[in-house]
Amino acid sequence: MHLLPDHSRFAGCGYFRYGMGPLIVLLHGFGEDSRIWQYQIEALQDYYTVVVPDLPGSGGSVLPHEPLRIESMADFVKEILHQENAKKVVMFGHSMGGYITLAFAEKYPETLCGLGLIHSSAYADDAAKIEIRRKAIQWIRNEGKAAFLRAMIPNLYSEWSKQNRQTDIEAHFRMALETSDESLIAAYEAMILRPDRTSVLRNATVPVLFVIGERDNAVPPIHSFEQCCLPNISSVSFLTDCGHTGMFEVRDRMNAILHSFCEFIFG
Ligand code: MLT
Repeated sequence: MHLLPDHSRFAGCGYFRYGMGPLIVLLHGFGEDSRIWQYQIEALQDYYTVVVPDLPGSGGSVLPHEPLRIESMADFVKEILHQENAKKVVMFGHSMGGYITLAFAEKYPETLCGLGLIHSSAYADDAAKIEIRRKAIQWIRNEGKAAFLRAMIPNLYSEWSKQNRQTDIEAHFRMALETSDESLIAAYEAMILRPDRTSVLRNATVPVLFVIGERDNAVPPIHSFEQCCLPNISSVSFLTDCGHTGMFEVRDRMNAILHSFCEFIFG
């Protein structure tokens, strides 16, 4: 793992780098770490430099002292790209990672030559979603994360995947268990506070990829369809029989989608 320097706001946080070539960034979602991208890293490192952070509070990265925000995690990614001396990148974010990608695009548009929302959305939380998150925070505080994650993780998979991807679902659960209660709660609070970023899509000057799972219970496909007509240039992939975690559920299709989007950008 490559760590950011001791004087950084994000000292104790870091990332992995694989392969060589044009640089792409893969941002994981809530209750995940860089390992959620393991199949994509394997497939894409032959063509690209693949930078995969463990976001603050996840995997090998500590939870910083300052309050965690979607925008501060975008600053963390910017610091990584500075350390890597990267000028232009394609960034893909899974779910919460997509919220961070949009915050990054808002603050550092000059650094992106393409971005991808992988089972993600530019909408802010509505009142019902905030209520669900508050209940989850209470559940974690009262009982610890294990029961909460045991209920949450399978819900991120389609019925087909529950039949065919049990080993991956179990690995996902074990990965989530490694995140501390405190970090899970901090990430939920960060998501509650994030604003609507549809304007980022509307003003995007670079191509935007939308990957949509037919059976996604976390990001309703209808929201993605509403948003994919906002950018000037969109590429839309609809994954049948897939839930919220296409990186595991339909790994080969996901690899092909990301690769062909990058080929379109980098030529
Ligand atoms: C994620 O996978 O990152 C979460 O489902 C995002 C969310 O809860 O909005």
